[in-house]
Amino acid sequence: GLLDPKIKAKGKKYFGSAADPGTIGVAIDVTILTSDYGAYTPENSMKWDATEPSRGSFTFTNADALVAFAQAHGRLVRGHTLVWHNQLPSWVSTITSAADLTTVIQNHVTTLMARYKGKIYAWDVVNECLNEDGTLRSSVFSRLLGENFIDIAFKAARAADPAAKLYINDFNLDAPGAKTSGMVALVGRLKARGVPIDGIGTQTHIQLGRAGTIAANLQTLANTGLDVAITELDIASSTSSANEAQQSADYATVARACLAVARCVGITTWGVSDKDSWLGAAAAPLLWDTNFVRKPAYTGVDAAFT
Ligand code: G3I
Repeated sequence: GLLDPKIKAKGKKYFGSAADPGTIGVAIDVTILTSDYGAYTPENSMKWDATEPSRGSFTFTNADALVAFAQAHGRLVRGHTLVWHNQLPSWVSTITSAADLTTVIQNHVTTLMARYKGKIYAWDVVNECLNEDGTLRSSVFSRLLGENFIDIAFKAARAADPAAKLYINDFNLDAPGAKTSGMVALVGRLKARGVPIDGIGTQTHIQLGRAGTIAANLQTLANTGLDVAITELDIASSTSSANEAQQSADYATVARACLAVARCVGITTWGVSDKDSWLGAAAAPLLWDTNFVRKPAYTGVDAAFT
């Protein structure tokens, strides 16, 4: 399997998967999650709409189950995600005052992180805050608080669980360009202001044949002085054998990229089997097919880690 001790021998980098009730409640997924994965990220259960659907009223059933599952098997958890413009309940978007929104962010961050204090390796504190041109995305958070919403969230996060690694997470950080430069510049400003931040998550939802720039880009992100993690890896493809071979090569390239960059702490794939991918089964983006048979992509990752 992809898990320890082979991975530990390669520098203690974890290999994880998104998981949630739809996988930890399914026997074949549990078998794979526990034999091949060393870390879990809740795909939806810790998001704002799932945890605080109305103001000050918290629900943790599915998040608790995921954390308990990880603890029972001695696995890491990446918490995902505290402040994001998507899967945000409408009551947050109707807030009109900066002071009120500040209190709401602090209460949300503090409540989630305090509940799982000591049980979460890393949190995606802020998710997808950048536009493709590297500027700050418009959201209720940026409209009322500007970039300072990021500072507010990270400061509350550090106070709530000082041992947790705090990440900013985004997609399309796979190649040089305006978004990567924007992220590097943003992290520079955050660090200059003393904002407590430990890592950059690069989601790595990529298309076939686009893995070649990832190692250099991971190094660009790591040059900020932060850890980096590949947080939501999948490679959109199809089930043709030519594409499966290319996908296997791409997965191996991504795995080797993380192994080659000292500050890359690990890789998370965004699900177990193609059956349950957010991209749909036809995109066949993961390591197991819809019948839970290992694909060439699995072999590619496994070879990279061996
Ligand atoms: O919970 C409801 C359920 O009650 C309802 O019956 C069902 C009917 O459609 O919908 C369920 O909600 C869905 C939810 O997943 C839980 O399954 C939403 O419709 C669906 O939109 C949602 O999709 C998730 C998506 O984030 C939403 O933004 C995907 O599962 C999840 O993989 C995806 O993950 C995101 C990361 O968090 C951030 N980066 C991008 C990544 C891919 O979009």
